[in-house]
Amino acid sequence: MPTIDQARGWYPANDAVHGFDHVLRVYFMAERLSRAEGADIEIVRAAALLHDAGDVSGAEADDPNLRHSHQNAAAEFAALKLSLEGWPEERISAVQHCIRAHRFRDNTEPPRTLEAQVLFDADKLDAIGAIGVARAVAFAARAGQPAYAPPSESFLHSGRTEIGEPHSAYHEYCYKLVRLKDRLFTPAARHIAEERHRQMAAFFEQLREEAGMSSAG
Ligand code: ADP
Ligand code: NI
Repeated sequence: MPTIDQARGWYPANDAVHGFDHVLRVYFMAERLSRAEGADIEIVRAAALLHDAGDVSGAEADDPNLRHSHQNAAAEFAALKLSLEGWPEERISAVQHCIRAHRFRDNTEPPRTLEAQVLFDADKLDAIGAIGVARAVAFAARAGQPAYAPPSESFLHSGRTEIGEPHSAYHEYCYKLVRLKDRLFTPAARHIAEERHRQMAAFFEQLREEAGMSSAG
């Protein structure tokens, strides 16, 4: 089993979106969900520590083209590390499935096992609530995008911005974050998501009100 200290070396330390602090939160949340749901905790722990491992960091790690397949790179990396530790093949495959199935934006391999559902849920719980707000705003700032811009009708329907339309943190909320609680698999995670969703929604509604620049109010 890889240790937390080993895993620290696989991630950037100062990355407000995908740094090691995200990995640690996912690790502890995944342990908590595993206990509640009766998942194989060793598979889940290894998958959590390895789920975003790769060799890109910072602004590069936000590049949609690089992030697109990071789950495959992390799954390869995991197989390498775990086979060096002498893990049996079928347990390595179980960890790889968790890692490949954890993306929201890419659902070519949906989570089929309880362990994969636990990792998916733990990762998504870290994208909502106060932490989720902080990450979305940090992502936008790093991409040179504002915290708030009014989404176009077409963005609200398709998730695609119009020419000249910024992709603000508020856009991310409208397109992805608002739906996450209904995409979770485990009852334990759905329960935790309720309060996180409420807090996040209150923040983004307040943000829209303060930043809306409408002359009506
Ligand atoms: P997933 O691995 O579930 O597909 P992403 O890598 O897309 O997730 O997102 C990881 C984190 O980065 C989340 O907290 C998400 O809200 C944030 N994020 C991703 N894309 C954007 C964006 N365009 N604007 C703001 N935040 C973003
Ligand atoms: Ni993650």
